[in-house]
Amino acid sequence: MNMPKFVFTFVLILLYEYEVFAAINPPECGKRINEIRGKGLNKIVNGQIADPEDWGWQVYVQYLSFDIQTKCGGSLINSQWVLTAAHCVYNLEQNILPNPPLYKIYLGLHDETKEEDFTIATEASKIILHPDYDDSKFQTEGLQNDIALIKLKESIKFNDQILPVCLPESNSEFSNKMAWATGWGRLDGNGASSKFLMEVNIPIYNDSYCTKKIAIKYNTKNSICGGGNNKGTCQGDSGGPLVVKDGDKWKLAGITSYAAVGCKNETVFAKTSAFIDWIKKTIQENSSSIPNATFTIINFSTIFKKNFKFSAELKAQKSF
Ligand SMILES: *[C@@H]1O[C@H](CO)[C@@H](O)[C@H](O)[C@H]1NC(C)=O
Ligand SMILES: *[C@@H]1O[C@H](CO)[C@@H](O)[C@H](O)[C@H]1NC(C)=O
Ligand SMILES: *[C@@H]1O[C@H](CO)[C@@H](O)[C@H](O)[C@H]1NC(C)=O
Ligand SMILES: *[C@@H]1O[C@H](CO)[C@@H](O)[C@H](O)[C@H]1NC(C)=O
Ligand SMILES: *[C@@H]1O[C@H](CO)[C@@H](O)[C@H](O)[C@H]1NC(C)=O
Repeated sequence: MNMPKFVFTFVLILLYEYEVFAAINPPECGKRINEIRGKGLNKIVNGQIADPEDWGWQVYVQYLSFDIQTKCGGSLINSQWVLTAAHCVYNLEQNILPNPPLYKIYLGLHDETKEEDFTIATEASKIILHPDYDDSKFQTEGLQNDIALIKLKESIKFNDQILPVCLPESNSEFSNKMAWATGWGRLDGNGASSKFLMEVNIPIYNDSYCTKKIAIKYNTKNSICGGGNNKGTCQGDSGGPLVVKDGDKWKLAGITSYAAVGCKNETVFAKTSAFIDWIKKTIQENSSSIPNATFTIINFSTIFKKNFKFSAELKAQKSF
């Protein structure tokens, strides 16, 4: 009897459940809506209300718990990650490590009391502090490695109003450059904070000048300083961006960290360029770069052989 020859090996069915690794510096990074529209920056020197649609990477980080509510800034660096200050997500209540569900993250916000059409409100899914963050000698040495990464619960689709900022190259220098700091922080040292996103244009200084002007011990390895003369950032601005335009891209030179009481003197910012390797590594290790696949192998060879044998036996009996 001529038996048809079935040659089954096996069939693989892949059920993908994956997330694509979002790298830093996506092609959209460092663009502002005014530039997209061909408009220049306002040339006002003192702090001012920002254009509602500008500074697309500015993030509003809200911490909510039953007894306190605080706000901080942050910067969107790709579709799923935000950079902020470590002190924004640590030490808020009895030195406990951050609990992601207590953080609400707003993108494309301007007036903190109302969302714009383009505002995205989301939550943190992971919060990772720099392993060497240290606030134990704050009064004499300031904050060390005041940087943290927040992974968003969802992957953000960029638009004209919500765009990531570019990160600088490792160890790039921004001293003597003019920068913009933005945030919803206090308008002066003892006053109320701002309801609208504010922006201020300030110079970044060199290491020796910062070491001289910052009244406490100052670490040039992980900090940069700028502002002063009654201009800069204050409480509530922490974690927010300090950006410098480099070519046609805006780069995150610093992250608002701390200043002397009163906020009239120079502000200290975490030096982003000192943390590029940590940022890359952390994002990579906390996303899955390879599809997170579930393999289901259906061995048709076994199934078909069994069925075939069965029907062949039947046939053989019948034809006899
Ligand atoms: C640092 O900046 C100060 C003030 O602008 C300037 O006087 C000084 O020469 C600069 N130092 C270096 C090493 O560039
Ligand atoms: C701010 O700087 C001025 C001038 O350097 C200094 O006299 C003052 O003590 C500083 N203020 C604070 C609160 O550190
Ligand atoms: C996140 O990345 C760090 C390395 O930067 C790693 O130590 C840590 O285990 C990762 N966390 C998770 C939840 O994968
Ligand atoms: C892969 O997916 C499973 C199930 O959703 C999850 O538990 C696991 O953590 C994921 N692995 C990685 C590396 O993301
Ligand atoms: C499929 O089943 C056959 C028969 O039992 C076996 O020889 C073969 O190794 C199996 N193939 C796979 C990929 O499991």
